[in-house]
Amino acid sequence: MISPLAWDDALVLLDQRRLPECELYLRCEDYRSVVEAITTMVVRGAPAIGIAGAYGVALAAREAYAHSRDDWRTYIVPALAALRAARPTAVNLAWAVDLVARDLPALTGDPTAAILARATALHRSDRAANERMGELGAALIEPGAKVMTHCNAGALATAGYGTALGVIRSAYHLGRLQEVFATETRPWLQGARLTAWELHKDGIPVRLITDSSAAHVMRAEQVSWVIVGADRIAANGDVANKIGTFGLALAARALGVRFMVAAPLSTVDLNTANGAEIAIEERSSDEVLQVSGKRFAAAGVTALNPVFDVTPAALIDVLVTEAGLLERPSREGLARLVGGT
Ligand code: MRU
Repeated sequence: MISPLAWDDALVLLDQRRLPECELYLRCEDYRSVVEAITTMVVRGAPAIGIAGAYGVALAAREAYAHSRDDWRTYIVPALAALRAARPTAVNLAWAVDLVARDLPALTGDPTAAILARATALHRSDRAANERMGELGAALIEPGAKVMTHCNAGALATAGYGTALGVIRSAYHLGRLQEVFATETRPWLQGARLTAWELHKDGIPVRLITDSSAAHVMRAEQVSWVIVGADRIAANGDVANKIGTFGLALAARALGVRFMVAAPLSTVDLNTANGAEIAIEERSSDEVLQVSGKRFAAAGVTALNPVFDVTPAALIDVLVTEAGLLERPSREGLARLVGGT
């Protein structure tokens, strides 16, 4: 199973900008290069950037302690802020940085090993959460199903196996899946470059479709489920995910296609009351105006490039987490799920 990141005395990242043409690995020896890698999408996908951020804290701790044995706690503060802010929408990043950096003042001596152990534990638990979500979500898929997925919520976006693609992998292994339709996911083409590659490598039948053909394909091919991941789930169950998800959810509801969101509890943000409070990342207009670095829009044309949108909870049929399923997510149901009751 492909993995987007590993620890080898530095953070080693599979450069997802180069896939599927070449499998190139980059070494991040300090936290600044981790921030840069997250911002420029060498590593992407909510859980994967969270894990990268956690290892970034270990690199920052190593540097801070080498700089000053007495003052490392002050020296590390800007590093934590830079890591947390590298991308704004996926809550997993800030959550992971805060988790591994908790009670820093209480750590004595060199903090690197303690923080690295926390980052490694987080890395392992994300993988286990994906496998559990895969089992739970696949149990809902009927034999012979055709499903649609958007962006890449696969092994490349997580510690491995994937959230939405974890459900799809498990459903396939249970013999329940006939075919997957992967939207190409303009402008960064996560679906075309990453999801289609991952599924094809695993021998799972996949056909790539243009984003604009999604509603038509849902109806014409009798798709039974749209299955996506998430970048942040607000306390009322609203879900931020890759731009285009909201449109897919609207089309699915209109056509009677069920809509599944698969995401670990690390994506749930009970401090954000609803979707309107979620910061939506806007990226460079060049991503819209160019393809492979070549501009195709007329000189002087400008573009708008919001890279996430919010799907209201009312359009979601089921949320799959490692702690269980939640049908028609609500504020009360989500609080119960997170609280383990
Ligand atoms: O901009 P990206 O590629 O980081 O966006 C990724 C997504 O929107 C995924 O669907 C989401 O992070 C879930 S990944 C398991």
